[in-house]
Amino acid sequence: MPPVITCIDDLKQLYKKRTPKMFYDYCESGSYTEQTFKENTTDFAKIRLRQRVARDLTGRSTEVSMLGAPVTMPVALSPVGSTGMQWPDGEIKAARAAAAFGVPFTLSTMSICSIEDVAAHSPTPFWFQLYVMKDEDFVDAIIERARAAKCSALVLTLDLQIMGQRHKDLKNGLTSPPRLTIPNIINMATKPAWSLGMARTPRRTFRNIVGHVKGVTDLADLTKWANEQFDPMLDWGKVRRIRDQWGGKLILKGILDADDARMAAEVGADAMIVSNHGGRQLDGALSSIRALPSIVKAVGEQTEVYMDSGIRSGQDVLKALALGAKSTFIGRSFIYGLGAMGQAGVTKALEVIQKELDVSMALCGVQKASDISREHVLVPKDFEGDWA
Ligand code: GLV
Repeated sequence: MPPVITCIDDLKQLYKKRTPKMFYDYCESGSYTEQTFKENTTDFAKIRLRQRVARDLTGRSTEVSMLGAPVTMPVALSPVGSTGMQWPDGEIKAARAAAAFGVPFTLSTMSICSIEDVAAHSPTPFWFQLYVMKDEDFVDAIIERARAAKCSALVLTLDLQIMGQRHKDLKNGLTSPPRLTIPNIINMATKPAWSLGMARTPRRTFRNIVGHVKGVTDLADLTKWANEQFDPMLDWGKVRRIRDQWGGKLILKGILDADDARMAAEVGADAMIVSNHGGRQLDGALSSIRALPSIVKAVGEQTEVYMDSGIRSGQDVLKALALGAKSTFIGRSFIYGLGAMGQAGVTKALEVIQKELDVSMALCGVQKASDISREHVLVPKDFEGDWA
């Protein structure tokens, strides 16, 4: 009998069973002590929902808009590096699930399936996430490739020009594809469905990069190139140049501070994502949900403010909207589904979250996700913190 999936954690358990340790650990790690990674979820639990009764609960809708277009619910799929290592052709599967559900999919620069490949297999345009690399020819070319693939927004990540260390990735010797070392071979032998699926697809390395950068032909070249390439010179001037070069909808990702949010609004971002990169970068930073209200206060009238990092349920989505987010992004929550059951698992993750959101909205006495506001939650008085 197929397992009964009732929540995101059920998908996570299945995902863990099916996936080689190095890719499970890659997804399920934060940097250093993992304080921020953990607080991204535990801080959501500090907020409570306000139960209301005797309200008309007919005609409920989880629909909202993002960048002026309707979406089935206030959830988009975050860019996640190496998604195609979690399930064969993972980016294509996730893009198709998102398109069918009516929510945006964001393709990472560090994806396994290339932009062109995802565009050929996705029935709707998707968003493209850009890492600014030192190799300007590569950046220029990939922006043009995203345009040619009809990507409908550029998501520029600002918080990963230098990598936060995730201990497990170093200990596991993480690479995509895995090196054929004895421990990796033994571990992959215990994951036969994954290994068979990967053997059957040609998509096993970073295909946005290999073949598009001079001198990068094998895994050793690629690892060296990627490690050296994140551009530490990325500043607001460069953000402006990329904005002008792209010319389309621009979302700035990785904003956690109200001063940076004001800068992001000033450069004309159409939206920003309050994010600490899922707790994978600056360990010791505030959780996203804690940082959110001050950013909404600073720029919420000027631009759309989204948030990610820590969303594992529809209740979390409700809380994020109540604290001012216009929409949210999920990374791990959809990767658990993908790694558990492929495209059907991503659909399942989205269904679970939508159902939870709908029921929670109803029990809070709110009919429309677009009407969720601060009055629907109870927030501890010191939640944002009194920091000096
Ligand atoms: C890349 O975005 C990572 O967090 O590993």
